[in-house]
Amino acid sequence: MSTEKPVTVPCLCRMKKEGRKIVVLTAYDYPFARLMDSCGIDVLLVGDSVGNAVLGYADTIPVTMEEMLHHVKAVSRAARRALVVADMPFMSYQAGRKQALENAGRFLKEGGAKAVKLEGGARAAETVAFLTSAGIPVMGHIGMTPQSVNVTGGYLRQGTSEEAAAALEEDARALEEAGAIAVVLELVSPPVAARVTGSLEIPTIGIGSGPDCDGQVLVMHDMLGMDEHFRPRHAKRYMELHALLREAFTAYAEDVRAGRFPSEEHS
Ligand code: KIV
Repeated sequence: MSTEKPVTVPCLCRMKKEGRKIVVLTAYDYPFARLMDSCGIDVLLVGDSVGNAVLGYADTIPVTMEEMLHHVKAVSRAARRALVVADMPFMSYQAGRKQALENAGRFLKEGGAKAVKLEGGARAAETVAFLTSAGIPVMGHIGMTPQSVNVTGGYLRQGTSEEAAAALEEDARALEEAGAIAVVLELVSPPVAARVTGSLEIPTIGIGSGPDCDGQVLVMHDMLGMDEHFRPRHAKRYMELHALLREAFTAYAEDVRAGRFPSEEHS
């Protein structure tokens, strides 16, 4: 049993103050979450990226509350030390604060998460304040927000003009004032991400936003090299898992067909 103290919401601000980087990975199931937790990953984000990474959807738009809850429960069962954050899927909070409260509440009550994440800056601030006042910690998410892909037309770098950079700073400030516990900065131009990070008391968690954020997040499948062809520029590959898995599956098929498995040892 781990003797390390669990990572709590106030720990995140403390880590920023003390200059300790916050390590975040997406997690979707029990065995991977268990391993990540035991390796000292600070935050397990059950992202709606589960839609692309695990469920075979083209984007995050179709992901439902029930699908998210299924994965949040599995990850929460695994977490001993890490803070579990549940991503609110498209159309689970945009219809108003009552809808947002009911769904966010389910992630804490049924899912076992300790916080939720939702996309949007100033426009989401009222929802963030409302959830926070109800006892639900909220992580913001600005920059490239995948749930808006049908508006933006693609997964594009954000904050590249002075005007866009100012809007991002304003969004981050609005989230902090609303009580957000941290803000994900996705595909934000690195100098702008550094500026936002320096202007906030709460931590920023970067993805494709340069080294100056207070923490970093990667999608688990991207850093493991699960997909041979999908190689986002921002995601460092720590292994080529697809190749190892292909080798294992092929060897098993060949063994069965050749009568090598089961051998005496496995009978
Ligand atoms: O859904 C997700 O995995 C995310 C991260 C990429 C930040 O939102």
